[in-house]
Amino acid sequence: MAAVTLNIVRGDAESGKRMEAYEVPFKEGMSLLDAIFWIREHVDPTLSVRYSCRSANACKECSAIIDGKVGYLCSIRAAAGGSVQIEPLKALPWIKDLATLME
Ligand code: FES
Repeated sequence: MAAVTLNIVRGDAESGKRMEAYEVPFKEGMSLLDAIFWIREHVDPTLSVRYSCRSANACKECSAIIDGKVGYLCSIRAAAGGSVQIEPLKALPWIKDLATLME
């Protein structure tokens, strides 16, 4: 089965940042947010990420730095066999993992 590798910043202000890699079974059309949900369901339910609408760019809560560029996790598709790096936004106060403080 094809997989996608997500390299995700984990941690909080107390523990500091570390990068963790997760292999997620690829499904046609899955978004990076779908892949994060899979990790939360099957590997680590404590992985924090903000989201609301789960559709393309309506709430903007799933903003993150994806391979060095700001984007929305719910609108960027995973690629079979691919690897992607996901970090929290740098311009907002960091809470935990991919979650930042949005006002
Ligand atoms: S979850 Fe709302 S824009 Fe991504």
